[in-house]
Amino acid sequence: MRDRVKRMFGKAGKPLDAMVFVNSVEPHLDQTFFYVTDVPSGLFEGCTAVAFPDGRVEMFTSELEAESARAAPDVNVNVFTTRDDQAKQLQKLLGSSGKIGLNFHEITYESFLGLKKEVPQGEWSDVSEAIRRTRVVKDAKEIERLRAAGRIGTKVAEEIPKMLKVGMTELELAAEMEHRMNLHGAAGRSFGTIVAFGAHGAEPHFSPTDTKLAKGTTMVCDFGALYQRYCSDITRSYAFGRPPADRKAIHDKVEEAQRAAFDAIRAGVPAKEPHLAAAKVIDSSPWKGRFIHGLGHSIGLAVHDGFGMNGRNEELLEEGMCLTVEPGIYVPGVGGVRIEDDILVTKKGYEPLTTAPRGYLEVGR
Ligand code: GLY
Ligand code: MN
Ligand code: MN
Repeated sequence: MRDRVKRMFGKAGKPLDAMVFVNSVEPHLDQTFFYVTDVPSGLFEGCTAVAFPDGRVEMFTSELEAESARAAPDVNVNVFTTRDDQAKQLQKLLGSSGKIGLNFHEITYESFLGLKKEVPQGEWSDVSEAIRRTRVVKDAKEIERLRAAGRIGTKVAEEIPKMLKVGMTELELAAEMEHRMNLHGAAGRSFGTIVAFGAHGAEPHFSPTDTKLAKGTTMVCDFGALYQRYCSDITRSYAFGRPPADRKAIHDKVEEAQRAAFDAIRAGVPAKEPHLAAAKVIDSSPWKGRFIHGLGHSIGLAVHDGFGMNGRNEELLEEGMCLTVEPGIYVPGVGGVRIEDDILVTKKGYEPLTTAPRGYLEVGR
């Protein structure tokens, strides 16, 4: 992980003696802790990682997860017994460090106050932007994991049509999808699975309920697998039975918008361009104004991993970024269609990470 650490210090653009990453309690864990340690298993609540400009990483962990910690490649593991003991060990390690970078984006205020007390000589500064820019371009190991997470998402998306039954609830379908993800090798889900029947589909982040599936209903299914801490994020929209007549036209329009976005993706292009390409397709259709979010986002250790492909982002796409491409059309009171895939940005275009069929599908007619 030394390369990752060195890149972060390089991007900080100022002299620093160390960077400190502090985990609070789930979900307030700094994913950068996992980025610099690459520890394969465990939660690591209340644990700390310290990185130095030469790439060295020191991890502080309790006995609870010491064994997993020792499996982390190229990391010095320090085991503490109590919080006070951790504070003392940290003081000792950072005794000669003055300028210390913190990830303001993911540290809690309580942890920051604790650190200030434990390391009184610290001159703290925010390095979250350097971290974001480092983490957003994935290395080979990360890409392998994102490919694997994407493959699991693809398999489950291909299986959804077989899962659909009259009378099943959104929650039951979500449970089935999550079960299948685990059977295909996921350690869990990368975010709360979205299953939205009928009008619920008009809300992009709908939480599943006990609403039952009936013939003639459309649905949005948005889910993702966690594979070795890396996230996939895929959405497919289906019609169950014979839906209202305009559903195929809406679906086809979203698919066309996604194709337009794909065509605009390659390294060197401003992130807003693929969004604008998709928005143009939808905004020149009868569903003008019904694409109500950004085209996509970076995926990695977090499902929203620090980069948005929206109409305002002038940052350039870079080789090695992994992004979602997820246009949608949302009609309040009626429903929605979203098609979401994950891609890896390459010099000339992109590599798809999720590949399940995207076309309009009426299941169970
Ligand atoms: N799953 C939430 C999203 O697609 O961003
Ligand atoms: Mn999604
Ligand atoms: Mn997404």
